Amino acid sequence: MPGTVPPLRIGAHEIWPPVVLAPMSGVTNRTLRALYKPFGFGLTVTEFVSSNALQYGAKRTMEMIDQHGVEKPVSTQLWGSDPAIMAYAARVVRECGADIVDINFGCPAPKVTKTEGGSACLRDVDRCEAIMKAVVAAVDCPVTVKMRLGWNETALVYTEVARRAEAAGVRALTLHARTAKQFFKGEADWSHIAALKAAVGIPVIGNGDLTDPRDALAKMRESGVDAIMVGRAVLGNPWLVGALADLFEGREPRPYPAAPERLRFAVHHYQMMVDEWGEARAVPQMRKHLGYYLKGFPGASELRERLMRTQTAAQTLEIVEATIVRLEQSQPVAA
Ligand SMILES: Cc1cc2nc3c(=O)[nH]c(=O)nc-3n(C[C@H](O)[C@H](O)[C@H](O)COP(=O)(O)O)c2cc1C
Repeated sequence: MPGTVPPLRIGAHEIWPPVVLAPMSGVTNRTLRALYKPFGFGLTVTEFVSSNALQYGAKRTMEMIDQHGVEKPVSTQLWGSDPAIMAYAARVVRECGADIVDINFGCPAPKVTKTEGGSACLRDVDRCEAIMKAVVAAVDCPVTVKMRLGWNETALVYTEVARRAEAAGVRALTLHARTAKQFFKGEADWSHIAALKAAVGIPVIGNGDLTDPRDALAKMRESGVDAIMVGRAVLGNPWLVGALADLFEGREPRPYPAAPERLRFAVHHYQMMVDEWGEARAVPQMRKHLGYYLKGFPGASELRERLMRTQTAAQTLEIVEATIVRLEQSQPVAA
């Protein structure tokens, strides 16, 4: 793998390109991970999975840890506040095929933090440490941590958590450079990501607001991180990761496909979701994805509104197919 950027190493896993598909609840299920992995992600992460729910083997929770196989290696992300339950859950997901177990110390959603999970763990660094030690001891695969900077701007604990993580045997850290209280407001502050990289010897994955391949490479170089994680920007545009891989290998980034090709892939995504999850679950989930694929198209907002009202896959796909034909007919023809 010659290139200007080395692969990311997490335990025995050599991850190329060092680009991770961010865990996104309600989004990065096995279907999306399998669909997006071939675009060039080195690693994909499941949606976050409740360790408490895993204890009860709830069907919907077990679906979240399912894999296709094509998307390996897979990192399965767990959240919770009890070290023993997190350790139990880690054993379960490992038995179910997780190549890496990732601990969530980042989710700011009230339904998670009110039970002291996700980013609320950052309010108690000792508990973070206990969770990390318990999970590392529970599994024979690498354990990683994804976190925010801290609970709020007066409690930036990320370097402290990182040092304890390294001592506990955690093999890599991802930092989304916002505090929990920021949710998604403001900008991710990559100077903290550089500070984290300087503070620990284990690999660091930088995350937050990466949208443009050249900017991402610049941020990677400036901060010195071992890898980057991309979330929102690849929704509807998985081609971004191919452009990144080009840059990493010293080539000009390939251009993004034209609108009809993007929509053809959206149709494929739609059909795969219907096949795997059934129409009743796929149709509402795919509304948001179609919105992402339509971003930046002429007439996109009107189309998005029409697609919000469709009730069946057949109605929806008819509109999308007609749009593809319309867009192809309006494409300039080469002389
Ligand atoms: C819809 C959505 C769901 C998310 N769910 C998770 C999750 O389950 N686990 C997690 O660690 N982060 C989750 N995140 C945060 C992302 O992984 C990522 O840290 C964040 O979006 C910043 O990266 P970006 O600017 O590239 O999107 C979620 C973000 C979004 C937008």
